[in-house]
Amino acid sequence: MACYVNNHPLVQDALSTLRQTTTTTEQFRKATKRISHLLIAEATRNIRTDPTTVETALGVANGCAIASEVVFVPILRAGLGMLEAALELIPTARVGYIGLERDETTATASTYYSKLPNDLASSQVFILDPMLATSGSAVSAMDILSKVGATDCHLICIIAAKDGIGTFEKCHPSVPVHTSAVDPTLNEQQYIVPGLGDFGDKLYGTS
Ligand code: PRP
Ligand code: URA
Repeated sequence: MACYVNNHPLVQDALSTLRQTTTTTEQFRKATKRISHLLIAEATRNIRTDPTTVETALGVANGCAIASEVVFVPILRAGLGMLEAALELIPTARVGYIGLERDETTATASTYYSKLPNDLASSQVFILDPMLATSGSAVSAMDILSKVGATDCHLICIIAAKDGIGTFEKCHPSVPVHTSAVDPTLNEQQYIVPGLGDFGDKLYGTS
């Protein structure tokens, strides 16, 4: 499996805003959108395109048009923070939703919702989930997607824990992970350290 760490300065600047404890909810949302644009643009670098020609005011230019069926799958709830940026980049994409929640004591993820488009076998699927901690949520999401036939999948997250990447790789070795940081450890509650805390709570102002 490949793990791509995006170290572009604009990505790293937005990541620092997300990590900073004094960042307000409004700033957190803006930084989430900013970093998502950049991560998703890079993660979709190899989507299928068709060659095309366009008429400019002064002649004909060669161009390309997105050919593949792109499907974004945000993992509820924190992954929703990345969806708007994704659809701004690829407005024709379809969207599937998977709802997963970690138990607060065991950190085990359980599925509470799933609504996916048909024909995922012929689609390029991009899972949006900002945090990969134990990877239980990402593994469950991929299990669900594999069961319905998705084979061309990528996982886009904002922060990944080193061990979580290792576990995810063992379960789904063909799925590349795109992230802006690989953090070294998890604490006793299975939160990423240094991480940024609970992404969903920061995005929605809950705690
Ligand atoms: C968070 C995060 C991931 C998951 C990562 O979701 O958005 O989905 O935890 O942890 P894992 O790799 O150990 O599974 P959470 O369960 O807190 O739900 P929320 O998005 O509704 O806040
Ligand atoms: N979920 C989060 O939001 N943050 C973590 O550090 C781990 C799981």
